[in-house]
Amino acid sequence: MSAAERAETTRAEETEQLAARLAASLRPGDVVLLSGELGSGKTTFVRGACRALGVHGPVTSPTFTLARRYEDGPVPVSHLDLYRLAGVAADDPSLLDEELGPDRIAFVEWPEADEAQLTGTRVAARVRLEHLGGDRRAVTVERPDP
Ligand SMILES: Nc1ncnc2c1ncn2[C@@H]1O[C@H](COP(=O)(O)OP(=O)(O)OP(=O)(O)O)[C@@H](O)[C@H]1O
Ligand SMILES: [Mg+2]
Repeated sequence: MSAAERAETTRAEETEQLAARLAASLRPGDVVLLSGELGSGKTTFVRGACRALGVHGPVTSPTFTLARRYEDGPVPVSHLDLYRLAGVAADDPSLLDEELGPDRIAFVEWPEADEAQLTGTRVAARVRLEHLGGDRRAVTVERPDP
């Protein structure tokens, strides 16, 4: 069983606010998966969550890096793009072990690219973002029962 909450946002800041609410309930070892088309707001959501977790620096797409690490808040945060990482992680699984470790909070964009890599992690929430036209987005946050 799980509980899903769906909201509609009309600008990026509103999506960031939803993310901040989720972030308040996260603890070390939690993994948050983010699905949705290009430009739907996955990185925007992660940015909002990271701000709430005490990250001050830029939070940008990890598309062209393997992983981003934000270490300036009380809990270290990793930000991954599994689409980009899938091949690399297959060669070197320890890479993901580090990013998805028990002392960090991790946000994973494009989890469907390689769900097998996430086996054994504690998925605290699945976030789905959908385009509704213009700046409107549907944001669904699904949390497994504790
Ligand atoms: N309601 C909204 N919620 C989120 N983002 C919005 C909204 N309205 C406009 N935007 C804009 O849409 C863009 C979303 O880009 P973002 O990089 O977050 O998407 P993404 O899903 O991570 O894309 P990619 O698949 O390329 O990684 C940003 O420029 C953001 O400002
Ligand atoms: Mg992105």
